[in-house]
Amino acid sequence: MGYGALAIGGVDCRDAVAEFGSPLFVLDEADVRERARRYRDAYHEAGARMVYYAAKAFISTAVARWVSEEGLGIDVASGGELAVALRAGVPGELILMHGNNKSMAEIEVAIAGGVGRIVIDSFDEIVRVADAASRAGVVQPVLVRVTVGVEAHTHEFIATAHEDQKFGLSISSGVADEAVRRIVKLPSLEFAGIHSHIGSQIFDAAGFEVAAARVVGLARRLMAEQGVEVSELNLGGGMGIAYTESDDPLDVAEMARQIGAVVTRECTAAGISRPALAFEPGRAIIGPAGITLYEVGTVKPVELDGGVVRSYVSVDGGMSDNIRTALYDADYTVVLASRISTAEPMLSRVVGKHCESGDIVVRDAWLPADIVPGDLLAVAATGAYCRSMASNYNYLPRPAVISVRDGACSTVLRRETLDDLLALDPGA
Ligand code: LLP
Repeated sequence: MGYGALAIGGVDCRDAVAEFGSPLFVLDEADVRERARRYRDAYHEAGARMVYYAAKAFISTAVARWVSEEGLGIDVASGGELAVALRAGVPGELILMHGNNKSMAEIEVAIAGGVGRIVIDSFDEIVRVADAASRAGVVQPVLVRVTVGVEAHTHEFIATAHEDQKFGLSISSGVADEAVRRIVKLPSLEFAGIHSHIGSQIFDAAGFEVAAARVVGLARRLMAEQGVEVSELNLGGGMGIAYTESDDPLDVAEMARQIGAVVTRECTAAGISRPALAFEPGRAIIGPAGITLYEVGTVKPVELDGGVVRSYVSVDGGMSDNIRTALYDADYTVVLASRISTAEPMLSRVVGKHCESGDIVVRDAWLPADIVPGDLLAVAATGAYCRSMASNYNYLPRPAVISVRDGACSTVLRRETLDDLLALDPGA
């Protein structure tokens, strides 16, 4: 390893790019495993029966194996994510399946794979899952996803518990009660409990506490009116991470303790037995464990009003490998990774190579003024929702993902090639 360059998992970032190309996603395997253990322990301590890793954040067979070796189940939201989890050898009963519009084929594969929980998101789906389970000759455990009417303090597009949106069945209007009434009548379904996910990138327990209290209210009503016990309460994912120094998420042990205490208190007050808890963190497990390495291609000073100069630093990726800045106004931390510079910091904007002015990776950054083409930049905390939301805009092949551990690299997903893309086009 040479002096002066960023290293991750004992690997010099210049060596990683020399071998695997740029842009490059790098995952620190030890960090992913450590986070998975920490979340499992904290939530089990707080009364969880199961902690599922939310595959939508990023999934591959390697990642599925790491997290399941560390004792997590896997939450999948499509047949594709399910296929990866099954291919990784994750036992069906440790998989939970989401989706507001699962296809019949997806439901059938889930049931055939012995998926431990299917989360019901509509009345239509109750009938579909019941039919598929009955045809397969099994009794399928299901959760009912509810909306609790909490406004999570996060970006509108990633808040999911308010009522006027596509997910879940409303508690306040009685629709959730009706779903349970229908489910318990169907012999091929087992009502396993309630699911609530209030949103993503949440920094404290307040929203979860309100959600838990409302779901416990529903549980009390179900017991009183239908004699149905809620034995499991899945409070979803959404635990936030720090992208920049100004982000300050609550430590997981404290978050888990606070949520667990509220559930216990509310259940005692409602006079019902306390359900087992379940959680589905995605971002918090994989996000901080990943970085993106980019190579700088051009540096362009642009004079702003008042004579201030902003340096537009163009990298070899952009909104096709990180759409979060454009989509959610997300902020990231970026550093010069391939060498040490003692140059003055310069107001900079890290931009991609796509044909849009909104193709911004990091809106405002202070990078050394001597950045030149060929330098490598590292953007932190890109392990979640970057490669998994990547596109081929402008026919850019999607970057590779590698893992690093104890000074060694291995391929998690190989880089897409232009041939991969051209193969989709049958040609003339
Ligand atoms: N469970 C359910 C039902 C979910 O819908 C989600 C995320 C999770 C768990 C995991 O949430 P996490 O712990 O990762 O926050 N693309 C957005 C995030 C969308 C999240 C969608 N659902 C972003 O890049 O911020």
